[in-house]
Amino acid sequence: MADLDITQLILSEHDAFRRSFTEIEALTDAAELGRRWDELADQLEVHAAGEEEVFYPHLLQEVDDSEGDTEHAVKDHNEIRDAVRSVADHEVGTDPWWAALRGAREATVDHLGEEEQDVLPPFKEQAPEDLRTDLGMRWLAFRDAHDGARGLSGDDKDPEAYVEEHANGS
Ligand SMILES: [Fe+2]
Ligand SMILES: [Fe+2]
Repeated sequence: MADLDITQLILSEHDAFRRSFTEIEALTDAAELGRRWDELADQLEVHAAGEEEVFYPHLLQEVDDSEGDTEHAVKDHNEIRDAVRSVADHEVGTDPWWAALRGAREATVDHLGEEEQDVLPPFKEQAPEDLRTDLGMRWLAFRDAHDGARGLSGDDKDPEAYVEEHANGS
């Protein structure tokens, strides 16, 4: 059941996000741009909220000294949320819109790389396989439940309070 390993599912979404940004940057039609961007913006929120709900609480439990990485990840998620929100301040396809979109792309791509380098490998190594599979199923259920970012506020989370809340298994 390796394909249900949560680390694998997260990685696949990271690849899909990189592809989507590249595809969007190749588009010229404003209606299509707006549609594809809205879709990606929603998916980025489902991904970040899903990690905060399903993944990072278990990283804190399974991997020693992961508090710093977790706090950093929630900070990054907030930066991505802010960057995504700022895209909506501009008319689709205009120069400032593109500048905001590229800012969101940069914040996202930096964060994906950090998770892939610092966060996912130790979890894959230290968390038992049945837990990784169980979390993978919960990850997919979260995605289904929140398709199109349904039911998600998109609000920033306080990184320190998040770590405090989840560090002791509560
Ligand atoms: Fe993340
Ligand atoms: Fe991620």
